[in-house]
Amino acid sequence: SKASNGGGNPRDFVAKMKESKKRIVIFYGSQTGTAEEYAIRLAKEAKSKFGLASLVCDPEEYDFENLDQVPEDSCVFFVMATYGEGEPTDNAVTLCQNLSDDSFVFTNGEHKLPGLKYVVFGLGNRTYEHYNLISKNVDRDLEKMGAIRIGERGEGDDDKSMEEDYLEWKDGMWEAFAKIMNVEEGQGGDSPDFAVTEAVDHPPEKVYLGELSARALTKSKGIHDAKNPYPAPISVARELFSPNADRNCIHVELNIEGSGITYQHGDHVGVWPSNPEVEVDRLLCALGLYNKKDTVINIESLDPALAKVPFPVPTTYVTVLRNYIDISAVAGRQILGVLSKFAPTPEAEAFLKSLNSNKDEYHQVVANGCLKLGEILQLAAGNDTSAAPTPENTAAWSIPFDIIVSSIPRLQPRYYSISSSPKLHPNSIHITVVVLTYEAVPSERVKSHWVYGVGSNFLLNLKFAANGENVALLNDAQSTRPALVTMPSYAIEGPRGAYKQETVYKAPIHVRRSTFRLPTNPKSPVIMIGPGTGVAPFRGFVQERVAMARRTIEKNGPEGLADWGNIRLYFGCRRSDTDFLYSDEWADYSKELHGKFTMRNAFSRENFKPDGSKIYVQDLLWEDHELVADAILNGKGYIYICGDAKSMSKAVEETLCKILGEAKGGTAEVEGVAEVKLLKERSRMLSDVWS
Ligand code: 2AM
Repeated sequence: SKASNGGGNPRDFVAKMKESKKRIVIFYGSQTGTAEEYAIRLAKEAKSKFGLASLVCDPEEYDFENLDQVPEDSCVFFVMATYGEGEPTDNAVTLCQNLSDDSFVFTNGEHKLPGLKYVVFGLGNRTYEHYNLISKNVDRDLEKMGAIRIGERGEGDDDKSMEEDYLEWKDGMWEAFAKIMNVEEGQGGDSPDFAVTEAVDHPPEKVYLGELSARALTKSKGIHDAKNPYPAPISVARELFSPNADRNCIHVELNIEGSGITYQHGDHVGVWPSNPEVEVDRLLCALGLYNKKDTVINIESLDPALAKVPFPVPTTYVTVLRNYIDISAVAGRQILGVLSKFAPTPEAEAFLKSLNSNKDEYHQVVANGCLKLGEILQLAAGNDTSAAPTPENTAAWSIPFDIIVSSIPRLQPRYYSISSSPKLHPNSIHITVVVLTYEAVPSERVKSHWVYGVGSNFLLNLKFAANGENVALLNDAQSTRPALVTMPSYAIEGPRGAYKQETVYKAPIHVRRSTFRLPTNPKSPVIMIGPGTGVAPFRGFVQERVAMARRTIEKNGPEGLADWGNIRLYFGCRRSDTDFLYSDEWADYSKELHGKFTMRNAFSRENFKPDGSKIYVQDLLWEDHELVADAILNGKGYIYICGDAKSMSKAVEETLCKILGEAKGGTAEVEGVAEVKLLKERSRMLSDVWS
């Protein structure tokens, strides 16, 4: 290989390993950053356990021809997420192709990796069909080429138990690792990843106060994407549920005029929320930082290869907690062990240690109780978690801030299915968001309390602010809805008022492309199933067809629609008078489409079967089985499912198997399953589901 001093190939990871004397290289296939976080954790553990430094690599930045040149005393980790319908993440496409492609040759001239030592950890979601497919494929390909796996393949389920799955897997893996790599535990030691320094004289205009990119800070022009979100003015924000509903669901229109942002029906929009102020205060108090929350801090990575500073700096303590890290998530089990050392009392230390080591207790108290880190610190120290947090009622722990930075993940955008069509609304993106509030399971230690979804409650706050509404109304004791966690104006107006202009509020957004699209030919019949907010993309679909119909009618009159396929929407909600989304719009769409659009509604708490059980979308689908089978099998139609991944989409799929299986003269289990598989392969059955 080439010389490593500057002239080397920057895509040669083996040279890089040798040059930096690292025996471990960790590749991560990551879409939203979770796999990358686990890659970094593995690197940190290798360091603290064995004193071994790792190279943590985005596979997109390297070539794999010399994967067979990894030195014998070294090994390769693959931390691979499975994305969508069993696909690799964007950054791992080439890596996966290289591994599975027999005609790909390594430097030895063969597609073989004899004796290469490797570790695999996969991240997947059990509610999807191809659970952890990518990590399985990587493992299979490596094994086939003669590589030797260290320990078992790890598999984490993002739906439920990622953290637990990881914790359960890693100890066995490290044991096997120590043996094969001939290293001993205890050679490492905990070394900090970051150095946090308080900077007194920093020019205030260069301090990040929630801006998500350098361009946002300098207000310079540029493309708006995930790395540089656009602060979109909120032109409309209104409640969709009726006042007698016990939940909120909001319709928000984000103005993208002049932003350069474009979108298609079926795309997603990422909204970048802030944490609720009460949680920000709680953690500031527990960290003893409340009185210097606005102090400017700089953060430097002590090992840039292992850990990048995850958000822009310099910034302030309060900004980190409000805008940059995910303090509202349920606290992980491992961090509790790390933080126990810094407890203000022996009791608090013992409490954290026992939550860390006792899985059942952790599960009961923390996971079921949906406790955030700030709440646990308060509970451990015997503070009242239901009072407004202040430095007086909250014990201060002596936790170094660098540990907070390295152990709490970055606050991620929340993705919503866009509920408009750009053909009707070129300058705005509509979203339809049910506000997530639920009661946590109480335990001996924790009373029952409300848990608030970060993204949807951030939007609800914005809606109140944008409309100048009186928050007290919502928090009225008479209301059956849970009270709003209020955000003070400076938190939603954003840094230096960047998210507010006069009375217009803004939300930072970016668009994520999807493949959830109508067939281009309007002759194909379409079946859409979307109960609850699962209807969101279908409002966009129907609008898309309405726009097309207007143009066709203008040219050819209504006869122009004669050979169009029917588009049928199966919608479900609790009652026709509480949560029937966009109930005032559907009849108009149907009129404009001259009967080519039909809607079926399952009002699950209004109409019941003779035996008293609920009527759901899948029941209506079954009622229409002849029509559905005809549209799909004879009409070469398309099926779309959107909404809850757990029970609804599964039940709908089963019903489709039954309908198609019987129509083909067979059974749901054989012919039905085969037909559904075929439809998916041909992209004639698409889902946009979430859990
Ligand atoms: P429910 O709440 O009365 O059970 C939107 O949330 C609609 O989806 C509601 O009418 C809800 O009914 C319904 N729903 C709940 N579980 C479902 C399932 N497994 N399949 C289809 N619809 C479901």
